[in-house]
Amino acid sequence: MALSLPSPVLLALVFIAAEVILTTGSSQCVARNFGHDSVVCECNSTYCDSVGSVTLPPRGQYSSYLSSRAGSRLEASQGQIQVKSSGADLRLTIVPYQKYQKIRGFGGAMTDAAAINILSLSAGTQEQLLRQYFSSEGIGYSVVRVPMASCDFSTRLYTYADTPGDYDLENFTLAAEDINMKIPLLQRAQALSHQPLSLLASAWSAPTWMKTNGALTGKGSLKGLPGGKEHKTWAQYYIRFLDEYAKYNLTFWALTTGNEPTAGEMTNYSFQALGFTPEEQRDWVALDLGPALHASSYPHTHVLILDDNRLLLPHWAKVVLNDVHAGRYIHGVAVHWYMDHLVPAEISLGVTHHLYPEYYLFGTEACSGWSPFDRGVKLGSWDRAEQYAHDIIEDLNHYVVGWTDWNLALDQTGGPNWVKNFVDSPVIVDTKRDVFYKQPTFYSMAHFSKFLWEGSQRVGVSASGQTELEFSAFIRPDGSVVLIVLNRSASVHKFEVWDPAVGYIPSAAPAHSLLTLAWNTH
Ligand SMILES: *[C@@H]1O[C@H](CO)[C@@H](O)[C@H](O)[C@H]1NC(C)=O
Ligand SMILES: *[C@@H]1O[C@H](CO)[C@@H](O)[C@H](O)[C@H]1NC(C)=O
Ligand SMILES: *[C@@H]1O[C@H](CO)[C@@H](O)[C@H](O)[C@H]1NC(C)=O
Ligand SMILES: *[C@@H]1O[C@H](CO)[C@@H](O)[C@H](O)[C@H]1NC(C)=O
Ligand SMILES: *[C@@H]1O[C@H](CO)[C@@H](O)[C@H](O)[C@H]1NC(C)=O
Repeated sequence: MALSLPSPVLLALVFIAAEVILTTGSSQCVARNFGHDSVVCECNSTYCDSVGSVTLPPRGQYSSYLSSRAGSRLEASQGQIQVKSSGADLRLTIVPYQKYQKIRGFGGAMTDAAAINILSLSAGTQEQLLRQYFSSEGIGYSVVRVPMASCDFSTRLYTYADTPGDYDLENFTLAAEDINMKIPLLQRAQALSHQPLSLLASAWSAPTWMKTNGALTGKGSLKGLPGGKEHKTWAQYYIRFLDEYAKYNLTFWALTTGNEPTAGEMTNYSFQALGFTPEEQRDWVALDLGPALHASSYPHTHVLILDDNRLLLPHWAKVVLNDVHAGRYIHGVAVHWYMDHLVPAEISLGVTHHLYPEYYLFGTEACSGWSPFDRGVKLGSWDRAEQYAHDIIEDLNHYVVGWTDWNLALDQTGGPNWVKNFVDSPVIVDTKRDVFYKQPTFYSMAHFSKFLWEGSQRVGVSASGQTELEFSAFIRPDGSVVLIVLNRSASVHKFEVWDPAVGYIPSAAPAHSLLTLAWNTH
């Protein structure tokens, strides 16, 4: 997508419009309209909009944060909790004794492309961007997915062990992309975060010499069988990766059994892939990966299976988790969001949770602009913000404990991506102007990531009648309540929230809006 720079006059008009649309405040969105249904917020080395760190008012009052297609971006306000109902058409009642899963966190992926884009900015602008994601004045990301070696969002194809026949991984070595770009950025992100980041590793392909097709791309899997030398070496490759990152004081919370195993199993995939059937994944975990991790310095690193679309559930989970030899090494099931509309959450996520409640569900990849019908970057698309919020709420309401976006930052073409699989990102950099644009999807993530701290527990919400509003409620570790409401429709006019512990909150969810309400209960 080609973007022309606006003239100074146009730019001035955009700034005036921004002031009209948005609330006043020390740190409001510098809105820019690129001709889609809403705006982006522009940030540079000295300025970026932020609501700051959030402290809730005392019991008896509530805080609300609103983002909307009309241009609000985490617009903060406060109000009194009422003792009486306002008689609104719809009441959402918080049901604290209905308790569900606890949140792990939200975040994005430090791909080669993300690192290249972030580092293409000046030092000051890089700092702003990292603060936006990882600091507590930003949106409090706590999860970062780290691809192991190259994927499509790289500028070249490589693994960490490209020497043919190197079964002992003698020549295993991190790439320049890790050492010069991803690792320094992860260290900076960690320094900005008030909590230890939950790092998550996923590999796209094994080295060519371990594979049936002798290539990083296309349809191919590990040579031999689980328990054999390729499968053992591939497990050791994960341990070596953890060792190398540990040298930089970066320790991983979890690893997945590999990105999108069906890609390399069923299709002649155009980018890096490694095929596994669920049976082969089960046996590889039981015979190779599980024992290798258990015997390593990282026996507490979590193992997440699947790392592929949720429509593969519950079948994939049944094959892998029914096996006690594999199941004892596994902690969770990782899902991607592509094609989520094809299969209801209840029959994929819900059924899997009810069959295996001891394993958690975790979202490891999502992006917009991936579909052939709606490709690449769309600066200012509110429609895509709604897609994110809809999917996150649906996942949270079906036992998912965290949600990880794809590339943390892309350029204006939606890359770099060596196979031109361009997509969108919540942060788009414009290197020429040394600015970055925070897309509406950035704020979708924020409505969850900034408020749902690790350990927040989902609780019940009951609606007094039919509604097309989408919502999910949580009690945080300090006892405060967070309710997130998405309005994609035109179903009712006003609603109120009733928390029996504190009273009634009269509210409204404007057209095409996302609202986070939060209040203390003591
Ligand atoms: C950054 O953006 C702010 C707000 O638009 C502007 O006042 C400032 O001049 C910009 N700074 C630079 C270095 O461009
Ligand atoms: C590793 O690389 C060195 C040269 O850097 C080479 O001498 C050695 O044979 C390689 N090891 C294997 C197993 O290929
Ligand atoms: C390693 O990282 C942790 C946070 O994850 C930090 O507390 C510690 O100081 C770091 N150690 C070194 C040597 O940098
Ligand atoms: C797989 O796709 C590549 C191009 O991406 C093509 O060159 C190759 O011939 C294809 N192989 C098969 C078996 O279709
Ligand atoms: C949701 O938005 C519609 C307009 O699309 C509006 O009529 C309705 O009142 C809103 N719902 C709530 C609960 O505020």
